[in-house]
Amino acid sequence: MTNETIRLTQTVKGAGCAAKLSPGDLDRALCGLDLPVDPDLLVGLGQADDAGVYRVSDDLALVQTLDFFPPMVDDPYSFGQIAAANALSDIYAMGGVPKTAMNIVAFPAKTMEISILRAVIEGGLSKMREAGVVLVGGHTVEDSELKYGLSVTGYIHPDRILTKRNLQAGDRLILTKPLGTGIISTAIKAGLADQSLTDRVTKSMATLNRDAAMIMETFSVHACTDITGFGFLGHLAEMVVDSGHGVRISAADVPMYPEALEWADMGLIPAGAYNNRSFRGAFVDFGAGVPRMVQDLLFDPQTSGGLLIAVAAGEAERLVAALKEKGIDSAAIVGEVLAEPVDRIVVE
Ligand code: CO
Ligand code: CO
Ligand code: CO
Repeated sequence: MTNETIRLTQTVKGAGCAAKLSPGDLDRALCGLDLPVDPDLLVGLGQADDAGVYRVSDDLALVQTLDFFPPMVDDPYSFGQIAAANALSDIYAMGGVPKTAMNIVAFPAKTMEISILRAVIEGGLSKMREAGVVLVGGHTVEDSELKYGLSVTGYIHPDRILTKRNLQAGDRLILTKPLGTGIISTAIKAGLADQSLTDRVTKSMATLNRDAAMIMETFSVHACTDITGFGFLGHLAEMVVDSGHGVRISAADVPMYPEALEWADMGLIPAGAYNNRSFRGAFVDFGAGVPRMVQDLLFDPQTSGGLLIAVAAGEAERLVAALKEKGIDSAAIVGEVLAEPVDRIVVE
């Protein structure tokens, strides 16, 4: 096996995306366990959020997260970049500044050349440099399948944590990257995506959410998350369910890859999209005019997706303009927070 012929996505058993354990299964695993209670644990396992937050002093808290998965693209350097950007994203989604990281690697040393691992780690390092993050260590195990990611630690002011849980009626919702990377990864794995699309999607997935996070810091942002494995509606549901508010999404305003829509129409949909729909679909009301393929895109599991930002209505247009000015071209207002229907997502 040589570097030239190996296709990393062909070494992955799950289709299109990292098959995450479903939240239901994870709940069953953790249910009844004696989880730590600590007044300085400001965000922990008790609430679904992007990262954990632990207060060190009155003006400093640590933000910690870990993400790793098998390749969704064939180029090892790009895979490293995407995995690192994806892991760093959870720090940005909390409003934090990433500082240090550790590699987490599973490598099939018997079937893959070590130069591939080197390229993956090089790609990750390039994103850490861009983010101003120092690599402090890591851990590698031998496994049947390549997996890579980072454990990241960042800083945040304890009073400035952006959780998922602070929607306010009237807020506008802004999304910063187009949806469809799960479907397109499935197409890449099936050999259906051409090079230009692969390059565009790779670039988007490898793009740090740092600029978006830095820009939103200067606006009245009430809640934020990043769109990853549970898809747009899955992550939105984490913001909406038990919030006492409702959300209306304008499907036509949600940025999506047109190619992904075409493949969705043909039924090329990763298993994760179905899982996301069955887990959160009960909280979503689709209008009669929302085509099935658009619904599928809204549940499509994303890798290193954009930020989903809830901002005060009067500042939403200015925030989008500021994001676009910085080159975040897909940024768009995709919906609004309403007083009702309580705890429901209406997609029109
Ligand atoms: Co996240
Ligand atoms: Co994550
Ligand atoms: Co957050």
